Amino acid sequence: MSAKLRVDVGDSPLRSEHERLLRTALRRGDKDPESALADGRLEGTYTPEALRLASNTWRARMVHEHHSAAVFSRLLPQLMAAGADLEFKTCVLRMSMDELRHASLCAGVVGLLGGEPEAETDLRTQPLPEHEDATAAEAALRNVMFVGCLSETVSIALLTEERELTTEPVIRRVVDQLAADEVLHAKLGWSYLAHVWPSFDEAQRARTDAYLPVAFGYLEAKMLEAMPLLGELPDELRAEAEALGCLASEDGRELLYATLEGVIAPRLRDYGLDALAAWEHRRRPSA
Ligand SMILES: [Fe+2]
Ligand SMILES: [Fe+2]
Repeated sequence: MSAKLRVDVGDSPLRSEHERLLRTALRRGDKDPESALADGRLEGTYTPEALRLASNTWRARMVHEHHSAAVFSRLLPQLMAAGADLEFKTCVLRMSMDELRHASLCAGVVGLLGGEPEAETDLRTQPLPEHEDATAAEAALRNVMFVGCLSETVSIALLTEERELTTEPVIRRVVDQLAADEVLHAKLGWSYLAHVWPSFDEAQRARTDAYLPVAFGYLEAKMLEAMPLLGELPDELRAEAEALGCLASEDGRELLYATLEGVIAPRLRDYGLDALAAWEHRRRPSA
């Protein structure tokens, strides 16, 4: 069911608390990207085509980041059921707030690029997999691992590349913030895995290994869908898009595979999972 998504702060009595959270709990470094966006304008000059392409990309990111907030908040009940330590529970909520903030930063960039920071999308979000074959501890690990070790670790690779390419200063500040936050989000996965894996018995480890081909296949399919190949861009347009924080899809896809094969699968193997075989035998979702 499609509806209009706008990521705006309203004027309710909670507005000041929202702003206080940005200044305190969610703060990272000295300078916040919100103030750069507030009085920001573009330093370079760009063709209308580049501005349109970049604002469409940032608008799609806005929708994706907004959805991610629901993923992190849904991890809380799973971590509660798994009896996880408190820091994992507080941190997923912080991460959920980070994602809402990311959505609003992306909306700010769309505005900066002259676009309308709203999108037609399904406002409903999907529940996380329940993993009926698994104990509560395994189910929580599977979802935390999918989000942190797979999805967010790929995000770091993409954002790191985008940071190198972005020359527009205000957008660079936004990309810096996104990248710094995603480092923490990935750390959730890797540190939870390190924390619980030693407590798993052989059967639990075998069931987790059996899940990995599904996780890899699902992530690959989702990421390829998010980076559609639209044909080779002319060099000038590609350079303008990169300056505005947008990596070409073919470069993003190359980085996706380099990260999955060169970083994620070997690192999971180092933790004791059968990840190299899982990557090789990944299972594409049927629908
Ligand atoms: Fe994010
Ligand atoms: Fe994230």
